[in-house]
Amino acid sequence: MARREETDQEAAAPPTHRPATNVPVLGVGMVGYAFMGAAHSQGWRTAGHVFDLPMRPALAAICGRDRAAVDAAAARHGWAAAETDWRALIARDDVQLVDICTPGDSHAEIAIAALAAGKHVLCEKPLANTVAEAEAMTEAAERAAARGQVAMVGFNYRRVPAIAYARQLIAEGRIGTLRHVRAAYLQDWLVDPESPLTWRLERERAGSGALGDLGAHIVDLAQYLAGEPLVGVSAVSETFVRERPRLAGPSAGLSGAADTIARGAVTVDDAALFTGRLASGALASFEATRMAAGRKNALRLEINGERGSLAFDLERLNELSFHDHTEPAATAGFRRVLVTEPQHPYLEAWWPPGHALGYEHTFVHQARDLVRTIAEGAAPAPSFADGLQVQRVLAAVEESAEKNSVHTPVVL
Ligand SMILES: NC(=O)c1ccc[n+]([C@@H]2O[C@H](COP(=O)([O-])OP(=O)(O)OC[C@H]3O[C@@H](n4cnc5c(N)ncnc54)[C@H](O)[C@@H]3O)[C@@H](O)[C@H]2O)c1
Repeated sequence: MARREETDQEAAAPPTHRPATNVPVLGVGMVGYAFMGAAHSQGWRTAGHVFDLPMRPALAAICGRDRAAVDAAAARHGWAAAETDWRALIARDDVQLVDICTPGDSHAEIAIAALAAGKHVLCEKPLANTVAEAEAMTEAAERAAARGQVAMVGFNYRRVPAIAYARQLIAEGRIGTLRHVRAAYLQDWLVDPESPLTWRLERERAGSGALGDLGAHIVDLAQYLAGEPLVGVSAVSETFVRERPRLAGPSAGLSGAADTIARGAVTVDDAALFTGRLASGALASFEATRMAAGRKNALRLEINGERGSLAFDLERLNELSFHDHTEPAATAGFRRVLVTEPQHPYLEAWWPPGHALGYEHTFVHQARDLVRTIAEGAAPAPSFADGLQVQRVLAAVEESAEKNSVHTPVVL
């Protein structure tokens, strides 16, 4: 459905695209059905109804460990079947792609088994809990790529149109040689010391805290936007609240409503701050915290180059700020670009200009890009190798923080 070919009147109508029925089906099997499970379900349900896709995603089966809960999730999110063991999900003939939406401690085992079974894989970020796991996953993905399989990491913020457009402007040289990347990802859901001890606060389940949860996103975005890797970092991190009430039942994700029992130890960071150097010599700074009172999902980026600057805030995700430093100084300045024009990335199939998109659209775009990558036999972006690179940065940050902020090279 190419909106630019339609009349103005037609362009004002909502997308009513019907998925083509003469294209092959891509059966999706998803593991996990809470926060990301709901978001990915929406992406898989919607992508083929908005974009012209060379394959039609079918929500074949969803997997969780509790029969009643996974059946309810299947009904709610539109999945045709439900499994209680991810191995059974992988073995299904109607599943060609396994979408992993579980905590980090299960990513490696599920992804490697799915790739060995000949399935494509989408794995949520961070790719793994350790560099060793991420290396094993990347090796499995590279072996599978030779058999035509695709493995992608769920760094969904690359699919915010304003961020994809910022990448285009940087690649076109519109801000020139990069000098600084300034990245912060600020949330506040752990400010309350009585906020419960969910899996996100346990090292064995989550790998790390704000660092792996939020820092992984901004490290990926910094490297994606700059088009080059970080080569070294200096870091500090802190766990401000070291004990929290433990949930009596399994975590219900971020909402976490359940009875609580005795307190347990928080074994991950609440906040991590670090500076770094990109391969070209540009400097970068990062701040990841779940303790920034009043900041709900403030992923902020500013990139300064010798010809201009770009700035972005996820809490205003339809906007990109652009300063062209080659313009006359008297009138130059940051301008607000509303990234909703049909020529902006992903916007060709959505609403008329100014009719804004939101968080959930990033998962629709992720599904679109992954389906096209599979159908075209193209290389995925971000690949498991990209996820491994981010994991190596996170490991260097942890090492530096442990060693009193000593500058620590990132293994390339
Ligand atoms: N891309 C993003 O913006 C984003 C946002 C939040 C979380 N995440 C990532 O997504 C992943 C999941 O996070 P979430 O917020 O959805 O967590 P969550 O706690 O909301 O959901 C986790 C789900 O995994 C299921 N699960 C756990 N172990 C399982 C197993 N062995 N077999 C089957 N199901 C199992 C749980 O039942 C639950 O349904 C994590 O890697 C997290 O870092 C990404």
